[in-house]
Amino acid sequence: MYAIAVLLSGAGSNLQALLDAEAAGTLGAQVTLVVSERADAYGLQRALTRGLAVAHVPLPPAPRGPARDAARAAWELRLAAVTAAFTPDLVVLAGFMRVLSPAFLNWFPGRVINQHPALLPADGGATYTTSAGLVIPALRGAHVVAEAVHLGLPVSGCTIHRVTPRVDDGPILARAEVPVLPDDTPASLHERIKVEEHRLIVEVVASLALRQGS
Ligand code: GRF
Repeated sequence: MYAIAVLLSGAGSNLQALLDAEAAGTLGAQVTLVVSERADAYGLQRALTRGLAVAHVPLPPAPRGPARDAARAAWELRLAAVTAAFTPDLVVLAGFMRVLSPAFLNWFPGRVINQHPALLPADGGATYTTSAGLVIPALRGAHVVAEAVHLGLPVSGCTIHRVTPRVDDGPILARAEVPVLPDDTPASLHERIKVEEHRLIVEVVASLALRQGS
């Protein structure tokens, strides 16, 4: 069975979408581990409810200077070692709010995918051209849903991509556009983006699992 490790930092609604598809027999894959750097991430509760293996790998307290980099690299190694112990075919960053460097990524070459709640271009550039031919900024970072609203963009969406050391970049696996409505708040827009994310993450994982199995 195609094994997936899910890394998350928060509510875990995308994990839930994967678990529901798995239970419905439409995923063709099995979530075998859920990991978070936050003990209070609700996603961990969702995993425990299903009787799944969970791991909490807390970030070290942040000293300053070079010691900080060393502590951070050591944390990524712990995270990688815990994840690798479950020999996942795929590592899914589903709302995992930490940037991972090669210290983690080299353990799972080409096998880490990320969800991003905005539209990213295939060329790593600064703009994205929508299906209607509109050129909008490619939003990167942790606050992109609020930015889409505050910039007054007419459309935003979500992207699933393979993870490379460049933040919010890497080969695109799937995308969906979501209109931004005139009275949208960041919360209301994020809700509608998440509906698309839940659909896309299941589609992408199922197709990667199928490809590996064929
Ligand atoms: C998603 O919108 C994802 O794109 C972003 O964080 C959110 C996670 O949602 N990186 P959830 O924890 O799966 O509900």
